[in-house]
Amino acid sequence: MQQVNSIIALRELLATERKAGKKIALVPTMGNLHKGHLSLVTRARQHADYVVVTIFVNPGQFVAGEDFEHYPRTLDTDLAMLEKLNVDLVFIPETKEIYPDNEEIKTEVTVSELDSIYCGKFRPGHFKGVATIVTKLLNIVQPDVAIFGEKDFQQLLVIRRLTKDLNIPVQIMGAPIVREEDGLAMSSRNQYLTKEERQLAPKLFECLANMAAAVKNGNKDFKALEMMAMSELKKNGFRPEYISICDAEDLKSPKNQNLVIIAAAWLGKARLIDNVAVQTYD
Ligand code: PAF
Repeated sequence: MQQVNSIIALRELLATERKAGKKIALVPTMGNLHKGHLSLVTRARQHADYVVVTIFVNPGQFVAGEDFEHYPRTLDTDLAMLEKLNVDLVFIPETKEIYPDNEEIKTEVTVSELDSIYCGKFRPGHFKGVATIVTKLLNIVQPDVAIFGEKDFQQLLVIRRLTKDLNIPVQIMGAPIVREEDGLAMSSRNQYLTKEERQLAPKLFECLANMAAAVKNGNKDFKALEMMAMSELKKNGFRPEYISICDAEDLKSPKNQNLVIIAAAWLGKARLIDNVAVQTYD
């Protein structure tokens, strides 16, 4: 497994692989890898000959007052995990490599509408930071395929949209959420939970799964289901930001049979997000 910190070195290595006809996959991460990330790498390996993982805690996507300084950084264990999965290349740029002018950037990518609802409403500027870094990483690596986790469902839609609108020649692939045995979606931020909060945390998925079952059974009173789930979470000590049954294509009001139930809720110091897909039959 090769490791590089500079864009020039990365591009030199990739040019050789591309010349040899290799199909290249990109898995962008912010490190602190867990089984969810590893599933992205496994998926990448299934769809490409050469797998590039990036590890970069992107300051641009943290909103004022968020956990950028304290975001868990575990480079040595991350690299050991990636080595075991036979990753070909890890790109670990310093901030100045990505944002050379003291992090000041004049060109940013915004995906309007999608970036200001749900998570975008509660974390204003977050998706601009994500869209900008992902565009930069896609331009730096120029992969054939890039893999993103479906846990960050809104992020995945933002990325699909920006590659479509900006004609970036890459296939964007989602990978299913990886859950703990009790249903909690894996996330680097789960480690902010206390022991007691960790016991309560699966309630979020439980609520979403119950809502999905109700929708599948023909319940069409989405507002009532959302309100019930909100109060159930509050009763269990969560501070929910939103729970919504929406169209899986654009997160607007349901129009066809493909729905997704998305949610974000604070539990102690951890902001948890999760989602469940559901199909209706009429
Ligand atoms: O999902 C993440 O870890 C990040 O948002 C990403 C896609 C690596 C961009 O920094």
